[in-house]
Amino acid sequence: MYYSLQIIAGLSAVGLAVGVQGSISEPNTCSWGPFLTHRELTCGAPQTKSQTPQPSTAFKVETPELWNSPNERYERPRKYKLPTGWKGPEHCFTDFCLYYNPDAGDGGMSLITTSRNAFIVASAVLPPSSGVEPTAYYEAEVPGKGVGLIANRTIRKGEIIMQRAPALLIQSTPHIDLEREPRERMYQAAVDRLPERAREGFLRQMGETVYDKAEKNSFRMFVDGDRKHSAHLGLFPEVSKFNHDCRPNVHYRVTNLTHTTIAVRDIPPGTELTVSYIYTQVPRSTRLTQLREWGFECTCSQCTLPPLEAGASDARIRQIDALEEEIESVMSRPGAPGLRPEMAGKLVELYRMERLDAALGPALTRAALISAMFGREEEARGFAREAAEAVERETGTGRKDAEAMRGLAREPRGHWAWGVLEGRGEGKKNGTSGM
Ligand SMILES: *[C@@H]1O[C@H](CO)[C@@H](O)[C@H](O)[C@H]1NC(C)=O
Ligand SMILES: *[C@@H]1O[C@H](CO)[C@@H](O)[C@H](O)[C@H]1NC(C)=O
Ligand SMILES: *[C@@H]1O[C@H](CO)[C@@H](O)[C@H](O)[C@H]1NC(C)=O
Repeated sequence: MYYSLQIIAGLSAVGLAVGVQGSISEPNTCSWGPFLTHRELTCGAPQTKSQTPQPSTAFKVETPELWNSPNERYERPRKYKLPTGWKGPEHCFTDFCLYYNPDAGDGGMSLITTSRNAFIVASAVLPPSSGVEPTAYYEAEVPGKGVGLIANRTIRKGEIIMQRAPALLIQSTPHIDLEREPRERMYQAAVDRLPERAREGFLRQMGETVYDKAEKNSFRMFVDGDRKHSAHLGLFPEVSKFNHDCRPNVHYRVTNLTHTTIAVRDIPPGTELTVSYIYTQVPRSTRLTQLREWGFECTCSQCTLPPLEAGASDARIRQIDALEEEIESVMSRPGAPGLRPEMAGKLVELYRMERLDAALGPALTRAALISAMFGREEEARGFAREAAEAVERETGTGRKDAEAMRGLAREPRGHWAWGVLEGRGEGKKNGTSGM
């Protein structure tokens, strides 16, 4: 038998560990920081095939032949009729045009994309803006960081702080490929078309030019599954108010064209709300370099640790990497030779000591499964319960992975992994487990 996480929990270990992009048709999520376009610092591709929203029969659906046909190339903007309220195409350049609707999303949306993508986005039903009440946090100057968000009451682990639609969506292709001049014109027009509040929010973001602001503050989003042409930069001006911390108290996920920020530990009043702009499970020097490239010197709680503690933190990161690699490796072999029940608690302990509260899902899932395999009921239940909550915080509701963990917490003995390695961790007192 092979004990791979995928088989056991019905989850993709790689997808969970690395994070998966958001997409309109898949409840996937990307847990990496604002994406750096040219360096492709992105997470894995969506795992399953997308379902394109069904266009009404009144519209022609684009076919690959059409996509490639030179004659049709510049005709395309007319092929999709956008829902009422949407304007455009305007400011077209090659296949890309500006589309906008001052009433869409949370106070206006502008799109720079193809007609097909515009149709998909405009036809999507976005969940209404939501989150904690507006007085739950406030804006204030944070020493060394500029303006940030501060908790105005205790915000509990699992509370959704903001759920927002993008103000601006820019397809990645023109962002990367278009020449500077037409691109700047389009971007400026897209921002000008936003209602005042969204426009001011956009312009307040970090960055020199409109292009630079888009580049620095965007989140990678897929509007149409894994279709190559559906990668976009999503701009959420309100979300940009969160400052960075390498050990953030807020996690974000991008699903179904929506950006959701959620507390990953209890946050006392007066504490700054932070997200991480980068993938955090790397040594301090790597984090500092990445954030410098992004545009600032990291002064977060973790970057400013005294040398001894910073060294201990780096050592823990290395230990986590080594332990996870070992677990993955032994679990992929028949009988999982070398797997020990203590590995479960050790892994979770390292994550907690490192305050990686925004990335606990995969570690808790592994711990729950290891405990179940060795027949350690209370541990398995405890880890599985927490794993379900963490997976849901990190990837959104309705995930099979969270459901599998709930099942394990409810009825560990009913899980097929139950007890398959029982006795082995206890010096084989009960003999081998008959595999
Ligand atoms: C995303 O949309 C799909 C399909 O409409 C839905 O099943 C799923 O629950 C949504 N996911 C989230 C996190 O809202
Ligand atoms: C903080 O909360 C208190 C009590 O709910 C409220 O009166 C006050 O206006 C809030 N402060 C801000 C800046 O929102
Ligand atoms: C060995 O198995 C017996 C019966 O299943 C059980 O009561 C006992 O606790 C086990 N011993 C150990 C060390 O696991």
